[in-house]
Amino acid sequence: MAEIIDGKAISLAIKEECRDKVEKENLKRCLAVVLVGDDPASAVYVGNKKKACEFCGVKSVSHELPAATTEEELLNLVAELNMDDSINGILVQLPLPSHIDEDKVIRAISPDKDVDGFHPENVGKLSIGQPGFLSCTPAGIIQLLKRSNVDMDGKNCVIIGRSNIVGKPMALLMLRENATVTVCHSHTKDLKEICKRADILIVAIGKPKMIDASYVKDGAVVIDVGIHRQENGKLCGDVDFDTVEPVASMITPVPGGVGPMTIAMLMKNVVDGIANDKNMPYVAI
Ligand code: GUN
Repeated sequence: MAEIIDGKAISLAIKEECRDKVEKENLKRCLAVVLVGDDPASAVYVGNKKKACEFCGVKSVSHELPAATTEEELLNLVAELNMDDSINGILVQLPLPSHIDEDKVIRAISPDKDVDGFHPENVGKLSIGQPGFLSCTPAGIIQLLKRSNVDMDGKNCVIIGRSNIVGKPMALLMLRENATVTVCHSHTKDLKEICKRADILIVAIGKPKMIDASYVKDGAVVIDVGIHRQENGKLCGDVDFDTVEPVASMITPVPGGVGPMTIAMLMKNVVDGIANDKNMPYVAI
């Protein structure tokens, strides 16, 4: 029987800490949220981000643009938001319509307002140990582990997935916690054997229930980043929870595990800003 890591409770605690900090220090924080097009999932995410701002006492300004918006129009808006001193965080919801170059838009956001932690400058800073904004989902996973008292030092951590948003920054953050890190992906040979050696297994492959108990060492900590809608309408992760839970020592559920942490860490990025605390050389940890 595994202990369930309660991402809902931990994310609420982080949002409450953000709210208390805003109130105590009378902080004036404002997040600009940009949504292009009418992707229903993106609209839900953006709605949840705006609600989290309200909860934390952070102002949000919303720019909802039609799908036909040109790249130039979007870049102009980003430039305006960069120059606007009343705005300290800019979030452009991804994915963007296919006629817009996402990398170009991410590069256009000022690294000082890049609360998603996607700008190459912030990614580069993370990789060489300098202060900067961290990508929210992997930073949230570190918080889940720390607040559940999981010791990462010297542990074998296996990450499945090498995306720019989750897998790669996750590997860098786990290295920073002194874990021994292995990153697996679609070309990895002997995936099962490698996963079986993991003390901490982080799964971000995007395939429903792919990781069953045969991939998991007895007593491992299992973090499931996936989220999928099944035919019966229920949500599931990349991990087959029912078979893995009896083998693991700790596991995140879907929903209510990693998912809520992404928005909590976004709020932490917006509220903390970068390197405002000399004792905390990275935001959000
Ligand atoms: N789309 C899916 N996840 C994210 C995220 O964390 N940030 C942004 N901007 N877009 C996303």
